Amino acid sequence: MTNPPSKIGRGSAPGKVILCGEHAVVYGQPAIAAPVNRVQANVTVRAGESGSGLQVVSRNLQGFSIAERQRIQQRLWAVAATVQEMLGGLHHWPPLGDVMADWQPLQVMPKMPTNLLIEIDSSVPVERGLGSGAAIGVAMMRAFADFLGLQLTTEQISAMAFETEKLHHGTPSGIDNTVVAYNQPVWFVRGHGVERLRVGADLRLLIADSGTRGSTATVVGDLRQRHDAAPATYDPLLQTIGDIAVSCRGAIEAGDVGKVGGLFDRNHVLLQRLDLSNDSLDRLVAAAKAAGALGAKLSGAGRGGNMIALITPEREAAVRDALLAAGANAVIGTVVAAG
Ligand code: PMV
Repeated sequence: MTNPPSKIGRGSAPGKVILCGEHAVVYGQPAIAAPVNRVQANVTVRAGESGSGLQVVSRNLQGFSIAERQRIQQRLWAVAATVQEMLGGLHHWPPLGDVMADWQPLQVMPKMPTNLLIEIDSSVPVERGLGSGAAIGVAMMRAFADFLGLQLTTEQISAMAFETEKLHHGTPSGIDNTVVAYNQPVWFVRGHGVERLRVGADLRLLIADSGTRGSTATVVGDLRQRHDAAPATYDPLLQTIGDIAVSCRGAIEAGDVGKVGGLFDRNHVLLQRLDLSNDSLDRLVAAAKAAGALGAKLSGAGRGGNMIALITPEREAAVRDALLAAGANAVIGTVVAAG
């Protein structure tokens, strides 16, 4: 089915937070993630001037050096070019074969214009573990689809955003594009599709930025090297993280928030043992716990980026103050709502 192409295509997508199971999920263990709607990536696509080619303009890169801005801009251009290429010639994308099988005969593919102006306006912090790359990938996919008048399922959007995630992360597990595209709490096992997670009671979180950026590709690559050199050392730790994710799922479904907090703490210790934390993250985790958080852990790739603290409404102000006093750059509150 096709709609008439719109002059300006618009797409948006939320940020995300990993509740437990990061890194182990790359090795086939389960993980849990939830969307963060307080931050959003918004993308517009419109026809560019004749001869302009593909132009990508990104707002919100203040705070980056010129060199970093160039690096990020180049990557965003590559993301846009990948989306343009994918939607312009889906038969060239064998990895998408399965999810596109029922799609191609149903839609008349409009011709992909060469001259396009893409504008990205995102409040998802870049390289902080909040899923900025996935949010932009999904938002861009939606904006292109809107521009072209294409109907894409969430599964198709997620699958294509996974292809753009590879540009950021090298070997992503797929959890980021999945939670961001579905915009719901997910139970994720690599290669097993997506399962919505039932949430028995609200999970109230503070997400604190440690102030340093962690490169997901570097941290994931480093763990991969260490793992492959000594699998007997690393596999039991990754398996234990997977077991924690299983327990965490049970506790979340049962609405046992206190138990979820304890599992966050255990998960953080294992991430420390995998050498994925750093002093700033550990300081924030300790400060949150001392101020009455039910549990706290780093979230995402680690060695920088964010940590999360599970709180009660009564302790929210105290934990927020403690995180700021312990050096957090910014603290965002979010609730993974029961349902
Ligand atoms: O994008 P981040 O920093 O939230 O990290 C993604 C989570 C990892 O498990 C570390 C990597 C992956 O692809 O799942």
